[in-house]
Amino acid sequence: MSRKVFIKTYGCQMNVYDSEKITGLLQGCGYELVRDSSAADVILLNTCSIREKPEHKLYSLLGRLKQFKDKNPDLILGVGGCVAQQEGERLFEKAPFLDLIFGTHAIDRLPELIKQVETDRVRVCRTGMREEGYSDEGICCGYSPGVSAYVSVIRGCNNFCSYCVVPYVRGRERSRPLRDIVAEVEHLVGTGVREVTLLGQNVNSYGNDLGFTGGFPRLLRAVNGVAGLERIRFITSHPKDLSDDLIGCFKKLDKLCGHIHLPVQSGSNKILKLMNRGYTREDYLERIGALRSACPEMSITSDVIVGFPREGEEDFADTLSLMNEVCFDDLFSFNYSDRPMTAARELADKVPPAVKGERLKILQEVQREHSLRKNSVLLDRLEEVLVEGRSRKDPRRVTGKTRSNKTVNVPGGENLKGSVVAVRIREVHLHSLSGELAVLPRGEKGVARQRNDE
Ligand code: 5AD
Ligand code: SF4
Repeated sequence: MSRKVFIKTYGCQMNVYDSEKITGLLQGCGYELVRDSSAADVILLNTCSIREKPEHKLYSLLGRLKQFKDKNPDLILGVGGCVAQQEGERLFEKAPFLDLIFGTHAIDRLPELIKQVETDRVRVCRTGMREEGYSDEGICCGYSPGVSAYVSVIRGCNNFCSYCVVPYVRGRERSRPLRDIVAEVEHLVGTGVREVTLLGQNVNSYGNDLGFTGGFPRLLRAVNGVAGLERIRFITSHPKDLSDDLIGCFKKLDKLCGHIHLPVQSGSNKILKLMNRGYTREDYLERIGALRSACPEMSITSDVIVGFPREGEEDFADTLSLMNEVCFDDLFSFNYSDRPMTAARELADKVPPAVKGERLKILQEVQREHSLRKNSVLLDRLEEVLVEGRSRKDPRRVTGKTRSNKTVNVPGGENLKGSVVAVRIREVHLHSLSGELAVLPRGEKGVARQRNDE
């Protein structure tokens, strides 16, 4: 009988991708993935430590899982990912019933580590870091990919933004060889994938560690050449490394979608300097101008941290004014939290929680208005939508994304899954759009883009 594994994932797209790799690896060793944790022989938690909140959630879940372990002492309980990397053996002190701790560089060792727990009846902790290479190369993703799939291109980060734990828990930048990435994209297209999102903490650094510059635009051009692929996206870009060559790709590469996630973090030069971001507000706005002149319809999303140490009212006002200048399509905003090992943790003049909360509320209100304004521009327009499948809320509708990465719901059936359709937008909401299929002459691909330009 096959062993059953349950995997819970916290945090970013990189963790989602890692969990897919873990699933693929364990399935290859005879494990079956189950959706009910109480039916599992092995429970793995793939954790995130980028902010305080997801880390707290892990500890409260661990408290609940202890009861499972009390009932079934043979259950194997493992914690992996960034919290595992950050805390190492200390996690055994916080949760003595844990069996396994595996860091961000130990994914490929999982079957062997689980076996060691089973046979030797010992607790195992593996958190060593590797200088180079990918620990998951050659492992296929476990879930059968749908219309859209992630492909990791670079891991780790060398930037050391003063608030960020990533360089400490994910290590230095390691790029994946270009031919391996293209081969994975080709394989995915063979399984029915139409859209890939290239993943990395800072994709703009792609190739630097392999000894070539301009590596990311080169990679985009190579992926753009994969026959049968419809769309390319990527996350995340660092504003200081956003080259003209990369911006030019939005104009030249037909498969590259007109959306960029470009985290600004703050609109105040004083705070950007304290954050060690390597650009000024003016530099950021200049890059936005360059993006918009290359691709006027580009949708732009960002991240902002509110209440960084020493952030005064005038600094917060600078963030709001930058938002007003750019008018982001969407914004992910967070209250600053101290993270272990980071430089910002040592800064004095922390902003009180109540002030952070108040600023976050104001900022989110402004963003709501901007998101609606941006979505409203699309009303009555034709948009090209890649259908991902049936809508979870309404089975008579399908859901998909515009090239600008907006979710669209439209009446239709499962047969549309994987197709690119033209949709006339009829309603706009804060986080989605709805519309109806537009009947267009046959063979007019990319018609939505052309028609709106007319
Ligand atoms: N506190 C709050 N937000 C943070 N982020 C990263 N570190 C912290 C922190 N210590 C946010 C940044 C980043 C996003 C992924 O998480 O905005 O872009
Ligand atoms: Fe963290 Fe900065 Fe690297 Fe992004 S670029 S992962 S915020 S250190």
